[in-house]
Amino acid sequence: MNIPAKLIKTDFLIIGSGAAGLLAAGRLADHGSVILLNKGTFQDSSTWNAQGGIAGVCSDNDSFESHVQDTLIAGAGLCHEDVVRAIVGHGTRIIQELIDIGAGFDRLHGELHLTREGGHSSRRIAHAKDATGRAIGEALLAQITPHRNIRRLEQHTAIDLITSQHPGLGGSNRCLGAYVLNPGGVVLTIAAGQTILATGGAGKVYLYTSNPHAASGDGIAMAWRAGCSVMNLEFIQFHPTCLFHRQGSNMLLSEALRGEGAQLVDRHGRRFVFDYDKRGELAPRDIVARAIDHEIKKQGVDCMYLDVRPIKREKVEDHFRNIHSRLLELGLDMTREPVPVVPAAHYLCGGIRADVHGRTDLDGLYAIGETAATGLHGANRLASNSLLECLVMADCCAADVLQQPEQPSGPIPLWDESGIVPETERIQIKQNWDEIRATMSHYVGIVRSDERLRRARRRLRLIQDEIAAYYWKHPVTQDLLELRNLALMAELIVQSAQQRHESRGLHYSTDYPQTDDQARDTILKPVDL
Ligand code: FAD
Ligand code: SIN
Repeated sequence: MNIPAKLIKTDFLIIGSGAAGLLAAGRLADHGSVILLNKGTFQDSSTWNAQGGIAGVCSDNDSFESHVQDTLIAGAGLCHEDVVRAIVGHGTRIIQELIDIGAGFDRLHGELHLTREGGHSSRRIAHAKDATGRAIGEALLAQITPHRNIRRLEQHTAIDLITSQHPGLGGSNRCLGAYVLNPGGVVLTIAAGQTILATGGAGKVYLYTSNPHAASGDGIAMAWRAGCSVMNLEFIQFHPTCLFHRQGSNMLLSEALRGEGAQLVDRHGRRFVFDYDKRGELAPRDIVARAIDHEIKKQGVDCMYLDVRPIKREKVEDHFRNIHSRLLELGLDMTREPVPVVPAAHYLCGGIRADVHGRTDLDGLYAIGETAATGLHGANRLASNSLLECLVMADCCAADVLQQPEQPSGPIPLWDESGIVPETERIQIKQNWDEIRATMSHYVGIVRSDERLRRARRRLRLIQDEIAAYYWKHPVTQDLLELRNLALMAELIVQSAQQRHESRGLHYSTDYPQTDDQARDTILKPVDL
């Protein structure tokens, strides 16, 4: 058969090569051809930037039940307990598998060295110094590298999913693959038996974020446009301690620093978090982030400070060597002086509605890792549970994919470029990017109100209209694709927030400060809107 150059066929298409995508690729490659995409490099992912570690029960002083309870408490009544038990129950096995494939976690006297983070009642975080994500990513990447069945396409940006409800295709709706922009500006049509979204989070929707550039919510926007429902998007976790510095605005100062004794102080050196919670610096993130936000506004200052000096210098230089050296490059020595910090958007608890296997509303489409919402995190994620979720989901997803009957290959529409005219200026794209991020930061941040959400919605609607008018007329580029996704993500976050008339976990509204007796998920469906 003569296949046109722009059409590629594969058994399994995996969009995203963080922890979730890498593990899924390794599991599937013995059973068929895999295409693994990312839109930058393997290093440009949240996975690669993860510092603190991965949570799992790895010591006799800890128990599965205690990890389950800590997760449920952090989730503020909204976790799906069956999902929590399923994912937490695989922690020990997944961490052992990572060790077996060469992720060099720290050890002390021959045992795994475990740290403690906010909300955990025991030391249960396995880590590789303060660069755990890199250690996990390198081990997973090394494992798949020799595999001949895996075609790795870097700098390839998925544009949209192809579904059988495309005009002229008929039949029940299922996912048939995706359109993908290659680095040369050509749109490829990738036809796949099964498609897996592993596209990570959406921190770029905010001005201050710990996330890498890739985190523009592409997977969620693509799934929504293909007809999938989304869940609990109002729950954005703000990490309390991101560096406040012109040149290092997205750098994270790991929670493990507080776990080892670092203190939060104001410019006078006063520890203020105990005014908000008796657990002080080790209270869950939402409480610590809100305390910092409140003090910044009350005192009319730009930031608070993390004082690392209570931790022994040798420990800082060993355990936190990555953070320490990056700060030194910026002229900050955390062993000598407190470091300026602000809360920044860090993790998206909601996402594409999926079960533990990653099954979505659409046949042939799975969503795994941060882009998915399984109910594990509820209204707030317990620190270091997300890498665990990525890996357990990828494992379960691959098992489910392999149970599916082979799909007969049918007709698939190629990308249609008729009607496209060259673009004359790009200023509109930049302006819209900036407006979305400022609107979300000012009106849909740590503290929300009905009025702020209404204002945000009005502005975002206008931006959406402008993008819609521009999008189909001009050639696709990565920043235009991301802008379209970012605008949709922002609108879905606002709509989700508007539906929650209470304060719970990460969603705090001045109009509804109480928590309802009954917890319910916020589910948005494209057909309803
Ligand atoms: P990611 O690792 O974010 O990967 C997403 C992939 O999708 C990338 O390869 C990207 O290029 C690709 N992609 C996105 N859109 C497209 C598209 N349109 N086309 C093609 N490819 C696309 N969690 C913990 O449990 N412990 C920690 O210590 C921890 N520390 C963190 C520190 C930082 C700074 C950050 C940002 C997060 C941290 N987290 C931590 C959260 C955790 O790292 C993430 O939730 C997790 O790594 C997400 O993995 P993922 O595989 O779902 O997505
Ligand atoms: C951190 O190291 O503080 C991040 C941990 C996480 O997000 O789980």
